[in-house]
Amino acid sequence: MEPYRIKVVEPIPVTTRAQRERALRRVHYNLFGLRADEVTIDLLTDSGTGALSAAQWAAGMAGDESYAGSRSFYHFRDVVRDLTSYPCVLPVHQGRAAERILFSALLTPGRLTLSNTHFDTTRANVELTGCQTADLPCPQARDLDSDEPFKGNIDLHRLEAALRGPDASRIALVIMTLTNNGEAGQPVSMDNLARAASLCREHAVPLFLDAARFAENAWLVTQHEAAYRDMSPRQVAEQAFRMADGCMMSAKKDGIAHIGGLLGLRDRSLAERCELLLIATEGFPTYGGLAGRDLDMVAQGLTEVTEPGYLRARADAARHLARLTREAGIDIVEPPGLHALYLNAGRLLPHIAAHRFPGHALACQLYLEGGIRSVELGSLYLGSEDETGAPVRAAPYELVRLALPRRAYGLGHLNHVGEVLAATVKNKERIPGYRLVEQPPLLRHFRCKLEPVSD
Ligand code: F0G
Repeated sequence: MEPYRIKVVEPIPVTTRAQRERALRRVHYNLFGLRADEVTIDLLTDSGTGALSAAQWAAGMAGDESYAGSRSFYHFRDVVRDLTSYPCVLPVHQGRAAERILFSALLTPGRLTLSNTHFDTTRANVELTGCQTADLPCPQARDLDSDEPFKGNIDLHRLEAALRGPDASRIALVIMTLTNNGEAGQPVSMDNLARAASLCREHAVPLFLDAARFAENAWLVTQHEAAYRDMSPRQVAEQAFRMADGCMMSAKKDGIAHIGGLLGLRDRSLAERCELLLIATEGFPTYGGLAGRDLDMVAQGLTEVTEPGYLRARADAARHLARLTREAGIDIVEPPGLHALYLNAGRLLPHIAAHRFPGHALACQLYLEGGIRSVELGSLYLGSEDETGAPVRAAPYELVRLALPRRAYGLGHLNHVGEVLAATVKNKERIPGYRLVEQPPLLRHFRCKLEPVSD
């Protein structure tokens, strides 16, 4: 049972199949092109899509909109300091701004960053500074069906080998992503984080957390890591932050805010360099591209998000939808995390080759069947072709992510998703693959055009 009730409601669009067919044709079969009012259940992302609490709205009303020295900033800074222990706290408008500022201040061209898995914007921001990234996910992450609890871990052997290897002097930073969004939202254990931190200390390489979903990671630690069973999620989260030199955080996830992010740092000289970039590109350090009210809403969200009742209900909702998905005959990446389910479209649609995008085909079908918007994480997103359009690289897995906005959808909505999944599976042999008609040179999945094909 959710530990809250509904005070404000927002109607959701209910469309006919004919309307959805027309809409999908109009946007050239790219779900990013749909207008939100053509979508009934929007599971595109859990970022900035959560429902605020009454206390967050009230905090927003009390926001101080002064340009410099806003009361809201000092409140925000104290809340973040208390949670993370980082003395220097810089607000930013969202997570990727924290990435850009940190990497611009810390990295010089030719260096290397290591991670359990870099999120896409993290990787892009490292590369924009002329540096390279290497992902070192643990080997268990490769088995999508196993229910090992910490498949988001970093591979400690490879981390140690890299830190001792010939490229060691190029390594500028290690980033632990909690939870590991690039590996199906799987969590990182405290044991793994502690060992990674100790290797980083030994080799004098800074360790940063990408803490977008720090509370969900902490919840899963209390559920599955014996030494932490008697701790609260808040206590686990505090310990995790204390193991690192700083964090980048998108507050649009576990800040339960519509916008916001932050950079937390221990190193004051690094913080001063970041602050100059912040002023030049985001705003004065006491607002960092946000309104005063946003700072207060994030501060309140960061205190609510670790409440065990809230996290338990969120985990239960994800497990409920996971059960409906398996019952419909669709395999997911096991075990289900909290922020999303990842459907194994490659296994469901073996008649569609990688270059005909089985994940995209499933995502389109879920929209046509029941107005559900999801996102493909397969060969459309990760694969590539040569100049003639012939496929040269397929993704390792063909997945579809159903992300769960925080506090926005109830069990009735999830049951609808379950019915749509079941209806989709009934006619799965008839689901067509897709052909790329047009693609931009970068980040093609956002803007490409496709059409269904029968071969
Ligand atoms: N790090 C992680 C792990 C993320 O999942 C995201 C965003 C970011 C950083 C960037 O934060 O959007 O505030 O700039 N993830 C969203 C998603 C977009 O749908 O998974 P941002």
